[in-house]
Amino acid sequence: MSDARFARRYGSLRKLVDRKLASVITHDKPHDLTEGSRYVLSAPGKRVRSTLVLLSCEAVGGRIANAAHAAAAIEMLHNFTLVHDDVMDNAASRRGRATVHTKWNVNNAILVGDVILGLAYRSLLHSRTKSIQRAAQLFTDGFIEVCEGQAFDLEYERSTNISLRDYYRMISKKTGTLIATAAELGGVIGNGTPRQMQLLRTFGTRIGRAFQIQDDLLDVVADKKDFGKTIGGDIVEGKKTFLLVYALENTRGKDHATLRGLINKRSRNSREQHSLVKTITAIYNRCGAIDAAQRQIKHETAAGLRALQALPASSSREMLQWFSEMLVQRTF
Ligand code: IPE
Ligand code: IPE
Ligand code: MG
Ligand code: MG
Ligand code: MG
Repeated sequence: MSDARFARRYGSLRKLVDRKLASVITHDKPHDLTEGSRYVLSAPGKRVRSTLVLLSCEAVGGRIANAAHAAAAIEMLHNFTLVHDDVMDNAASRRGRATVHTKWNVNNAILVGDVILGLAYRSLLHSRTKSIQRAAQLFTDGFIEVCEGQAFDLEYERSTNISLRDYYRMISKKTGTLIATAAELGGVIGNGTPRQMQLLRTFGTRIGRAFQIQDDLLDVVADKKDFGKTIGGDIVEGKKTFLLVYALENTRGKDHATLRGLINKRSRNSREQHSLVKTITAIYNRCGAIDAAQRQIKHETAAGLRALQALPASSSREMLQWFSEMLVQRTF
């Protein structure tokens, strides 16, 4: 299939997921909870994880229709993590709109996240599969691991000696796991073999890691109107991104001292934040952190694609390859 056909198909899979997400909230009260949940589920997300469930199911010989509930479930699990993540990261915008805790308040963001997680399980349990127990187990393990990854992310904010190894453990859990779970869940619903499920899991973990390094990079290099999130948010929050961990290990002298001095300081006004982002971005460019991130993204993607290539040849496998390559070239 050509790239244009893959792009069209991605559009139609997204629509299928969007339609499902639009149908899960069936009443209007309590007002803030239902409106907040609709607000989140109708926002223009890329629907990456749900697309992976659908295509992985097909890649092992299953039917898209059977995976639709699981796809919507994974997408909701992801959206639950985002609503709570924005509270933890003090983020004001997402998908080009105000975040739930800024539009309403933190209490509503907690509840909106909680209810979306409940709706995710409800949808998963509607899946048409004889392996529902396996699917629910996988989903639950994924959910717990994302929480652990998010906990490392928060713990590391306060730490100044995080290694690349620590960083990889954190992103494997907070992002790799959900993407791996999506791919494997598709395999489960499609009745894949244990070997195929293992390949899908490896594929998802590695693509997921590439995805997070790209997200770290976009925090610094993206265009605000494409990105939909605040540029430099990670720098202001002291997040141990790939760029910061690399820069701490690969700078000497004045740049190193500047980095160390700046990351220990919190609570700045917006003028100070702006100048912090500028200074740190210049250091990232000078020490090669941006190039190193791009190299790592390529490396992780290639490893993911090698696992994918071991699946039987099919147009869904080809589309998964196209999709992975597109994701790591994204600008938002
Ligand atoms: C954002 O995920 C969180 C990360 C793991 C980087 P996405 O970039 O998939 O967000 P949406 O769903 O498209 O908004
Ligand atoms: C993404 O981490 C991980 C999860 C949401 C679980 P980020 O904090 O980098 O995601 P964004 O940049 O806010 O989307
Ligand atoms: Mg965040
Ligand atoms: Mg975060
Ligand atoms: Mg981010």
